[in-house]
Amino acid sequence: MCGIVGISAQRNIIQHLIAGLAALEYRGYDSAGVVMVAGDGIARIRAKGKVRDLQALQRETGLDGHCGIAHTRWATHGVPSEHNAHPHVSGPTSVVHNGIIENHAVLRARLQAEGFEFTSETDTEVIAHLVESHQRQGKDLLAAVQAAVAELHGAYAIAVVSAREPGVVVGARYGAPLIAGLGEGEQYLASDVHALLPLTRRFIYLEEGDVVKIGHDALDIFDAEGRPVRREIRESHFSADAVDRGEYPHYMLKEIHEQPQAIADTLEGRIAGGRILTQILGVEAERLLAETQSVHIIACGTSYHAGLVARYWIEQLAGVPCTAEIASEYRYRNPVVREGTLFLTISQSGETADTLAALKLSRQRPYLCRMAVCNVPESSIVRESELVLMTRAGPEIGVASTKAFSTQLVALALFALELARARGLDPARYSDGVRQLELLPGQVAQVLALDPQIRRLAEAFVQKQHALFLGRGTHWPVAMEGALKLKEISYIHAEAYAAGELKHGPLALVDADMPVVAVMPNDALLDKLKSNLEEVSARGGQLYVFADEDVATGMDKGHVLTLPRAGEIAAPVISTVPLQLLAYHVAVLRGTDVDQPRNLAKSVTVE
Ligand code: G6P
Repeated sequence: MCGIVGISAQRNIIQHLIAGLAALEYRGYDSAGVVMVAGDGIARIRAKGKVRDLQALQRETGLDGHCGIAHTRWATHGVPSEHNAHPHVSGPTSVVHNGIIENHAVLRARLQAEGFEFTSETDTEVIAHLVESHQRQGKDLLAAVQAAVAELHGAYAIAVVSAREPGVVVGARYGAPLIAGLGEGEQYLASDVHALLPLTRRFIYLEEGDVVKIGHDALDIFDAEGRPVRREIRESHFSADAVDRGEYPHYMLKEIHEQPQAIADTLEGRIAGGRILTQILGVEAERLLAETQSVHIIACGTSYHAGLVARYWIEQLAGVPCTAEIASEYRYRNPVVREGTLFLTISQSGETADTLAALKLSRQRPYLCRMAVCNVPESSIVRESELVLMTRAGPEIGVASTKAFSTQLVALALFALELARARGLDPARYSDGVRQLELLPGQVAQVLALDPQIRRLAEAFVQKQHALFLGRGTHWPVAMEGALKLKEISYIHAEAYAAGELKHGPLALVDADMPVVAVMPNDALLDKLKSNLEEVSARGGQLYVFADEDVATGMDKGHVLTLPRAGEIAAPVISTVPLQLLAYHVAVLRGTDVDQPRNLAKSVTVE
C-alpha cells in the first residue's frame, strides 16, 4: 500500500528520497512522485508505473534539493495516473498521504467554494488545500497542519512541506503508521522503517494523533491536543541487507527458503526441557489462559488462513470453543461475546486497517483480554494488545505472504498447546506436539529440497485458467492458502474446497482441463479424502497430490509428491511449503510480477 518518505537535510537528498521509495516498493503501488522545496517554490515530478520511471524523470529534469517529500501511491480514489499521483499541491504547499479521508467530499465542496481548484480525483488533495488555506489565514506550517488534521475524518499518515518554510517537513498520523528517523544533521519521516534503514537505525514510532515537525537539526512532536511530547527512541534491529534479495531472483523465493530459519527463530527461547514457557505470552498469561473459556480469532488474507488452522488446534487440543473470522466482516456485525473470551488478532504487518479496527471495537465488548500474533514489534496491533506472541520471520517483502504464514502457524501452535496444557491436555500429546515443533525446521528444509520436482509439476499449470485445491481438517485452510498464493501471483483462478463439499457443486467443474491439487496428511480423514479424490479421477480431473510419506505409496492416481511424515501440529506447516513453491513456479513460467502482483498491496492500511 502507499508509502511515504520525507527528509530535511543540509545536502542534496533526492537520491535518498527515491531510494526510500524503492525500498517501499514491496508494499504494492501504481504510481510515484516527489516534491522538493527549492528556492522560493516547490518542484514536482510524478510518474505512473514504477519507481524506476520516476528515477528516469529525475535524471531528465535534474530535480534535486535539501528538503522534500516522496510517495508511492496505491489507488483508492481515482484511477492510477500521473495526475492522481502524490504529492498533491496547493500553491506553495504540498502533501503526501496514506489512508482514506472519509469526509473528503464535504471538504472538497467547501474548499472549491473558497476558490481552490482541484486537479485530481483523490481524497488527498483536500489536505493540500486545507493546509494551504490555514496558512493563508496566518498560521505557520505546523499550526496549519494541526488545524487541518482536526477537520479530517478517516485514517491518515501525512507529510507536508511549504515553500514558505523551506527546510521544514510536518508529519501527522491517525490510523496509519508514520515513523520519524533521527540522523546527524538530517531528520526523516517514513511510513515504514525499511525506507530509512540505509540512513539511520534510530526511530520514533509516532502515536495516534501525533504531529511531528522536522528540520535538518530539530525534531519536535506534539500530541493530539497540541502539547509537546517526548516519545521513546528505538534502535531498529533490522539491517539494510535484511531486505536484500541476495542471489534469489525474487523476494518470494528467498522468503520461502528462509522458512526453516524463520521457524527456528520463532521457536527460540520459547521451549525449555520439552515445555513451552507460558510467560512468553506476557506476564499475566498463566492466569489469563486459565480463565479462557473461548477464543475469537480475527484476521485478514493469509493471516486469516493461519487463524482457521489454529481454530482446529484450539478445539481439538484445548477443547475450547473457537471461531476464526475475517476482520472486515467481524467489525460490522455486532458480535456477541461471552464471558471469558480471548480476542486474538493475527497480522504480519500489525497495521491492517480492518484488523486494527476490529481490535479497537473489541474494547467495547466484555473480552477477557486481547492477544496478538504479529511480525512487527512496534506495530499498532501489538501496542494495543495485552498478550503478544511475536513471529520472528524478519522483513517479508514479497506481497504474497510465505514465511510470515508458516511462522504464524508456529506461534499459534505454541499458544494452542499452552492453552491446552492449562486445560489438562494429556501430557503425552502435549510433549508430542512440542517435539513436532522442534523438528519442524529440519522437515521444512527437506520439503524445500523438492523444489525441482515441484517446478516440473508447475509446467502443467501454465496454460490453465482454473485450478481447484482440496483438503480436509487443518488442511482445508492449507488448501485455501495454496489457492490464494496461486491466484495472487499467477492470476490463475483458483478455489479451495473442503474435500467433503466437492460433490455439492465444484465437482461439476471437473474435467480433463481442471487441475485438482490435494494435500493429503496421514490423519483420521485420510480414507474420506481418498474417496473424494476417486470422485475427481473418475471424471477425468488431473490430480496433483502432496501426500505424507506413509500414504503416498498407496496412491496410484495422478501426480504424487511425497512429503515427510508429520503429526497434527507439523503437517499443516509442511504441506503449505510445496503449495507456495508451486504458485511461485507457475507465476515465473507465466512471466508475472511475482513480488508485486498487480492491484495488490503488502500492508493494507485502508479499509
Ligand atoms: C494483504 C497482504 C496479504 C496479507 C493481508 C493481511 O492482503 O497482501 O499477504 O495476508 O494483507 O495482512 P496482515 O499484515 O494483517 O497479515
